[in-house]
Amino acid sequence: MKALVYNGPRDVSVTEVPDPRIERPGDAVVQITRTNICGSDLHMYEGRTDIEAGRVLGHENMGRVVETGPAVEQLRPGDMVAVPFNVACGHCPNCERGLTSYCLTANPDRGIAGAAYGFADMGPWNGGQAEYLQVPWADFNLLPLPDDATEKQNDYVMLSDIFPTGYHATEMAHVTAGDTVVIYGAGPVGLMAAYSAIIKGASKVMVIDRHPDRLALAEKIGAIPINDGATSPVEQVLHVTDGHGADCGCECVGYQAHDPAGHEHPSQTLNELVDSVKPTGHIGVVGLYVPADPGGSDELARRGEIAFDYGNFWFKGQHMGTGQCPVKAYNTHLRDLISTGKATPSFVISHQLPLDQAPQAYRHFDNRDNGWTKVTLFPAG
Ligand SMILES: NC(=O)c1ccc[n+]([C@@H]2O[C@H](COP(=O)([O-])OP(=O)(O)OC[C@H]3O[C@@H](n4cnc5c(N)ncnc54)[C@H](O)[C@@H]3O)[C@@H](O)[C@H]2O)c1
Ligand SMILES: [Zn+2]
Ligand SMILES: [Zn+2]
Repeated sequence: MKALVYNGPRDVSVTEVPDPRIERPGDAVVQITRTNICGSDLHMYEGRTDIEAGRVLGHENMGRVVETGPAVEQLRPGDMVAVPFNVACGHCPNCERGLTSYCLTANPDRGIAGAAYGFADMGPWNGGQAEYLQVPWADFNLLPLPDDATEKQNDYVMLSDIFPTGYHATEMAHVTAGDTVVIYGAGPVGLMAAYSAIIKGASKVMVIDRHPDRLALAEKIGAIPINDGATSPVEQVLHVTDGHGADCGCECVGYQAHDPAGHEHPSQTLNELVDSVKPTGHIGVVGLYVPADPGGSDELARRGEIAFDYGNFWFKGQHMGTGQCPVKAYNTHLRDLISTGKATPSFVISHQLPLDQAPQAYRHFDNRDNGWTKVTLFPAG
């Protein structure tokens, strides 16, 4: 089959690789009808992780079941399914508690809790930027989609990662109706966090970035765009909240946070969040941070340590939640919001392209070229 393979920093290509197979009784093979490029892929694309050359990327997948192993009971060939980016076993102590992003079974070699398709350090699983994907523990991992699945593919594909992840940020931030919410990052994840906060009835949602096209999308869904290009974002948030700061905040940028001139400061958004959120407020961090970053901007960053303003955080009595999103905790409810027409997360998509054009799409999305907010690929209709 054809698949998008990582060759080295800023070098990916679509090449022939072996077809995935049913290897264990609980496996399914899914024909990929939609697969997105994610900001997480860019950390790998830029050579800022230890992903191995030859791996197939892609963790934001949906498609049609084409084959099932003998132990799969709930799925049949032809079923349309959304594939959570987490690979989870369903029976370990963490999966039993709903913490599928910290499965203790699916990443056997590294002693790391949590696994994902086509992802550095997250187990041996190939990704779905390909014609087909092997899915283990298929009954547990695959979310069946309703009859409108084909028609609403661009919405349902967002259930694999960014819609639940944005929602998870708002859960960790304890967003409730009437809250004022500040979100750092207007990439696809930040936009989904803003969308989730709006769905939950937040009174004001402020979204900070410096790309006008992304800020325009934030404004379109009813958020207040804040451009940090000229003035301090913290001052702008304080201005919008009458000097109090926001009730809660979300970090949707990660360790490659940079100033508008492009210089990386891995602690920048975390420290600005602490300054932007009220005392005792909750902060949800879904932007990615890593235990070691050999390509980091200084010695501290290279060791995976960052200059977090802990004294200010402690003094304000704030709370912080972090980590990979347990997609299964949210995807059923978010699917139902889509099927009933209450949510249309496809608004983030700027480009729909065939798999063959993935290498060019990576280049544009990585440059944050104007108008390239989210790319979805269609290996098969
Ligand atoms: N926790 C999870 O489960 C999970 C899931 C998906 C993605 N992620 C992570 O979420 C992050 C965002 O993903 P994305 O797809 O939106 O990526 P993206 O790279 O497209 O978007 C990031 C945005 O942050 C902006 N930004 C950079 N520095 C900033 C700063 N100092 N202040 C404000 N904005 C700034 C950029 O301009 C960009 O628009 C990535 O780190 C990704 O790895 C985490
Ligand atoms: Zn993703
Ligand atoms: Zn598990």
